[in-house]
Amino acid sequence: MTGSTQDGAQNHGAQDDGDGQDAASLGIRSISVGGRYGVHIGVGALTRLAEHVSEGRRVMVIHQRGRTDLVAEVVEAVRAAGGEPHVHEVPDAEAAKDVRVLAGAWGALGQAGFTRNDLVVGVGGGAATDLAGFVAASWLRGVDVVQLPTSLLGVVDAAVGGKTGINTAEGKNLVGAFHEPRAVLCDPTWMGSMARADFVSGLAEVIKCGFIADPAILKLVEADPAAACEASAPVVSELIARAVQVKADVVENDLTEAGIREILNYGHTFAHAIEQVEDYRWRHGDAVAVGMIFAAELAVRSGVLGQDVLDRHRTVLSAVGLPTSYAGSGWEPLRRAMGRDKKARGATLRFIVLSAVGSPQRLEGPDEQVLIEAFEAVAAP
Ligand SMILES: NC(=O)c1ccc[n+]([C@@H]2O[C@H](COP(=O)([O-])OP(=O)(O)OC[C@H]3O[C@@H](n4cnc5c(N)ncnc54)[C@H](O)[C@@H]3O)[C@@H](O)[C@H]2O)c1
Ligand SMILES: [Zn+2]
Repeated sequence: MTGSTQDGAQNHGAQDDGDGQDAASLGIRSISVGGRYGVHIGVGALTRLAEHVSEGRRVMVIHQRGRTDLVAEVVEAVRAAGGEPHVHEVPDAEAAKDVRVLAGAWGALGQAGFTRNDLVVGVGGGAATDLAGFVAASWLRGVDVVQLPTSLLGVVDAAVGGKTGINTAEGKNLVGAFHEPRAVLCDPTWMGSMARADFVSGLAEVIKCGFIADPAILKLVEADPAAACEASAPVVSELIARAVQVKADVVENDLTEAGIREILNYGHTFAHAIEQVEDYRWRHGDAVAVGMIFAAELAVRSGVLGQDVLDRHRTVLSAVGLPTSYAGSGWEPLRRAMGRDKKARGATLRFIVLSAVGSPQRLEGPDEQVLIEAFEAVAAP
């Protein structure tokens, strides 16, 4: 179902940029998402913003609170390219994904006389880029957006793929639109100020991409787990590029999640249950790490996966300091939460499991006893 290969050969698109001498000499890697837009990763990635700014183009920089140095650089880059910069600050983290914040951003666009030909730039973690993307999707039924994710999760997951949205009182991401960016620019040095635990949590999504499609990611992390945890380490650019390539390969074929996009949910059914039961106090990536162990336990117990790959999950995730077990509330609340997950179909639980590294498949309606045994294995310290 995936078109993936065992050796990750399909992921060699994460290459140095060939079309700009400056960018290439700075070591920026560019990944094309279906030929529609590029994700540019590396020190100096902001230089690529000028391609989207023309004389007199209004540019609304919607940024997460703080990040003043980066915002000043973005404003300067817009000005240098002849554009007309405007800046709109939004609250930190999930507080940005609120209808009042959305309305505030529309107000700022209206006051700036923003037209169909102008540009939104999103700066911040996944929450800020989700909001900025939805602002761009909804203003005049869609204006261009360039995303500048500053968190690891933001670049490897939120900013790539075209999903944008906000939360409502009833739940997360209930309102949104598919609206692909014109480009995604990511300079890993922007992540240097992230709390280590937040950065490591983002690594869970990177490692997930390794398990579902690109074993080279696993080898890189295993070879030097300490370096993988340092935003400034060269291997981090490589890891980001490879993870983005995996997501790009998937969303290029399936923008709206009908089919293979589902493999990106590896580990997420159980992760969403942990997040609900823990009232969202767990970091998303930490929950995904445990969720992948659960999925691998399920796969082994269902006879589709070998013990060695299950063991590899525990080794690589713990090597970077991600959690590999969760007892928490006990089984029943987790089982109820999984039944409510929006990805569950009716009463049947669906999981993505592996038959080998790089070979994901669907597992529908596993036996309740197998689920309980997988949970007991995950609950054991
Ligand atoms: N659109 C999608 O496909 C998609 C996919 C995955 C996640 N998401 C969304 O992304 C959000 C999660 O992303 P996130 O983990 O980046 O969360 P976030 O945006 O809430 O950021 C987490 C924290 O990190 C801080 N931060 C971000 N960059 C920083 C930096 N460089 N230095 C210091 N602090 C920094 C933020 O201020 C915030 O406090 C959620 O809202 C989720 O729904 C969207
Ligand atoms: Zn995720």
